[in-house]
Amino acid sequence: MKPPIVIWVASNAGGVGKTTLSIHLGYRLAQRKVKTLLIDLDTNGSLAKFVGLEDPIGAEESSAAIFSRKFEGHYPVVVPQWKQSNEKFGLCLGGDVMVSVGLDLPSRTGREYVLQRAFRKFPPDADVILLDSPASLDVLSYCALAASTHILIPSPMSVKISGVNSLLQMIRSEIEELNLNPPPQILGSVPMKVEKSADQHSFVCEINDVFSDQKVHCFPPIRHNRHFENAANRGIAPLYIYRPGEPACKDFEPIVDAIENLTK
Ligand SMILES: Nc1ncnc2c1ncn2[C@@H]1O[C@H](COP(=O)(O)OP(=O)(O)OP(=O)(O)O)[C@@H](O)[C@H]1O
Ligand SMILES: [Mg+2]
Repeated sequence: MKPPIVIWVASNAGGVGKTTLSIHLGYRLAQRKVKTLLIDLDTNGSLAKFVGLEDPIGAEESSAAIFSRKFEGHYPVVVPQWKQSNEKFGLCLGGDVMVSVGLDLPSRTGREYVLQRAFRKFPPDADVILLDSPASLDVLSYCALAASTHILIPSPMSVKISGVNSLLQMIRSEIEELNLNPPPQILGSVPMKVEKSADQHSFVCEINDVFSDQKVHCFPPIRHNRHFENAANRGIAPLYIYRPGEPACKDFEPIVDAIENLTK
């Protein structure tokens, strides 16, 4: 069996749309019969909220289980209860319980490799794994980096160009520091929540120039659309379900195509 493609959704800014992007990619990949597991490493619990599930109560029901010293390969996978959902889209929820992981990890030997080790020892039953991590580039993010085969970088429209550069620099230097072999590939960058204005258009061009100079592929933007928030607040985040005809649904397709290609 081919090992899963592991994609770290990486950003050094909060609220950029990481969780929204991860859910839409996972949902679409599953519709295309690509078995996808979205693992939430964040403490904020927004994934559970966006998909209408209760927060996990115990560590063993959440992504925290994967970081346990006693982990034996039982990934705590749950499936959203939407009518149009299918069993090919599984989730491991984060939330409050991840706080203890963040506290415990720094004292562990080989802490950055905990997730990588879990995946190697107990390969999850998935073609694609999406890792949604906190915006703070802390030890959990390094775990995600070390476990990843690919990196996807959503960019906010408010970011300073220096912020983009420092994220890329951090990713490249950590890949060296952690001696990742083979090094994870940067799948590309995605401008997020892009409004229809001349200002935002020129900012997208500016950001894309920075990424292109660094040989990073630039996906077309995900447009700003108020229905993303409405859908998430109702626990049915995928616009594909909430408003199937919405043009913004199409914005994810080039990224879904690229990920699906990696699985072939
Ligand atoms: N394209 C979009 N247009 C409009 N609103 C969006 C879009 N994408 C996401 N949002 C909204 O922006 C907010 C933040 O999105 P999301 O939680 O996905 O970001 P995040 O990067 O995961 O945030 P955090 O750093 O808190 O985990 C949510 O309310 C979400 O519904
Ligand atoms: Mg999030």
